[in-house]
Order: sequence, then structure tokens, then C-alpha cells
Amino acid sequence: MNSAAPIHVAPELLDPRHAVGEIEVPGAELFRRGKVRSVYEAGEDHYLIVASDRLSAYDSILPTPIPGKGAILSLISAFWMKSLRAAQPHHLVTDDPAAFPPVFRPHAAWLQGRAQLVRKAERIDIECVVRGYLTGSGWKEYQRSQSVCGIALPAGLHDGSRLEPAIFTPATKEDTGHDENISFERMVAIVGADTAEALRTRSIALYEEARAWAWERGLVLADTKFEFGRVDGELTLIDEALSPDSSRYWDRAEYEQGRLLSFDKQYVRDWLDQSGWDHEPPAPSLPAEVVAKTQERYLEAIQRLSGAPR
Ligand SMILES: Nc1ncnc2c1ncn2[C@@H]1O[C@H](COP(=O)(O)OP(=O)(O)OP(=O)(O)O)[C@@H](O)[C@H]1O
Ligand SMILES: [Mg+2]
Repeated sequence: MNSAAPIHVAPELLDPRHAVGEIEVPGAELFRRGKVRSVYEAGEDHYLIVASDRLSAYDSILPTPIPGKGAILSLISAFWMKSLRAAQPHHLVTDDPAAFPPVFRPHAAWLQGRAQLVRKAERIDIECVVRGYLTGSGWKEYQRSQSVCGIALPAGLHDGSRLEPAIFTPATKEDTGHDENISFERMVAIVGADTAEALRTRSIALYEEARAWAWERGLVLADTKFEFGRVDGELTLIDEALSPDSSRYWDRAEYEQGRLLSFDKQYVRDWLDQSGWDHEPPAPSLPAEVVAKTQERYLEAIQRLSGAPR
């Protein structure tokens, strides 16, 4: 991995008056709309991916956006794509609005930072999940079967145990409903042995490179999800890579004290927990103080990741 310079986040991106909940780019043709990002057609070979400032917690989108979140997460993903050896080739062309197709230029000011021009790929419908720590659904499964997605693990592990080496636990990518965990054999049946093998090797290489980098900078990269597609026949990293939305990050110092705290969403979760909300949509609005503290966490994440080892 190449060395990096700390990423500067422009103050106007953090201004609550500029927070973006709903993405609308008048004049542009929508390709698809996700819960947090929207993808626009940008000519025959490209898409423009635009990230909102929306945040999800407990599987619900919160009504209160976090100013700067979309830009910070896009910058984190771009940072990893540009710096990890195993990220080559990837889909990112540019995040400079001056280089976007003309239809987007009138919107350059608010697209700044949050939008990425990418190569169109023929998507491979598998979520390439890598887990370097046992937690979440993996921990639940381990308690039942001492394995995760068919991968047997040693006895005596606990929530948060480091897995060495990291394990590859693919899932199908479902357009509706929930993604389903599948075995590696099932993945082979879906995409073929060569592609399955290549995706597993590449995903683990990406994860291990990023895990080591993050650890030296005070962050634990617990697990993550990659997506790949083919561009001109070549396996290409697409979507977002290693952003806090596609990955679980913990604070290293807290981890070493035995606490597994979501680096970005902990304030939100703590506040929701004490609010009495039953996790059924709609979620309640967040108070300004929780918004401010959460914004600080996103800034802290990008500063640590793009900064020097500590
Ligand atoms: N270069 C690319 N070529 C083709 N499709 C891409 C590319 N990059 C990302 N995508 C797809 O674009 C979509 C990005 O949208 P987004 O992640 O917001 O929504 P989603 O994955 O459908 O739903 P969710 O809100 O659950 O994440 C994904 O379906 C992703 O697979
Ligand atoms: Mg997605």
C-alpha cells in the first residue's frame, strides 16, 4: 500500500444547512436508487454514484441526515480504491465534478465530494464478505455450530475474537429482501470455480491489506463486504470499498479493553436505545447533539485512516 496524505474535508460539506437527505439530480436519468445512494446514467460506459447523508441503524433509515457523511464515506472508499494494491482494477474514474458529463455540471456544488464517476460493470451478484473478527451474525452462528457459513472454527472463541487468517463468507445479492449467506461450494455453482476462486483470493487480500493499515491507525476493521463486476472482461472492484457503511469498524483502544463499539454509529445506537424506540420504522429524529457527535466520528475515521500510524 502506498503512503498517503491526510484527507482534508471542506468545511462547507459539514454545514448542517447543506445536509442532503433525498438525492435528486434534475435532468439526469436515474439507473437505480438504494437506501443511501442513487446511481445515475452517465453515458454509455459510465454511472454517477451519488451518496446522501442518510444513515441507517437497526435496519432503518433515520429521518435525520448527518451533514458531511455522504462525502466522507465516498472519500474513504476512493482513498482505499486508490491506495490498496489488491483494489486494482477498480471502477472509479473521478470524483471531480468538473470532469462529470455536462448534465451534472449545474449541480457541481452539491455533488462535490459525494459523487463518483465510475465505469459501468456487468455486476457479479455475490456479496464478497470477509470477516477478520467473530461478531454479529457470524458470532451467533458460531455459538450454534462452531462454524460460520460452513467454515469450521476453533473452539473457545468469543464475541470479538480475531480470526487468523480472515474468512471469506459469501452471500447472494438480492434486489429484494435479505441477502442469503451461502457456502463457497454454492458460490462455485453460481459463478463458476475460476471466478469464485479469484473473488475469494482478491477479497481476502483486500481485507488483509486494509486490516493491517487500519490497525496501525487505531481502528479495527472487523468485517467488510466487497462487490465485483466485469469491465471489458476484467474482474473489477465496484460499488464502495471499506466505507463504514459496508464495513464494521471499532476503536482499537476500546477493543483492547474488551469493548466492541461501532466506531461511527455508537452515539446513534446509544441514543436510540435509551429513546425507547422499538426498532420498527419509522425511526425517531436525532437530537442535534447526537448528529454533531456522529459527524465528529466520521471525520475522526477519515483522519485516522488517511493519517500516519500512531
Ligand atoms: N461500477 C458499477 N457497475 C454496475 N453496478 C454498480 C457499480 N457500482 C455499484 N453498482 C451497483 O449500484 C448499486 C448501488 O446502490 P446502493 O448500494 O445504494 O443500493 P443497493 O445495494 O441496491 O441497496 P442498499 O441500499 O441495500 O445498499 C448497487 O446495486 C451496486 O451493486
Ligand atoms: Mg449497496
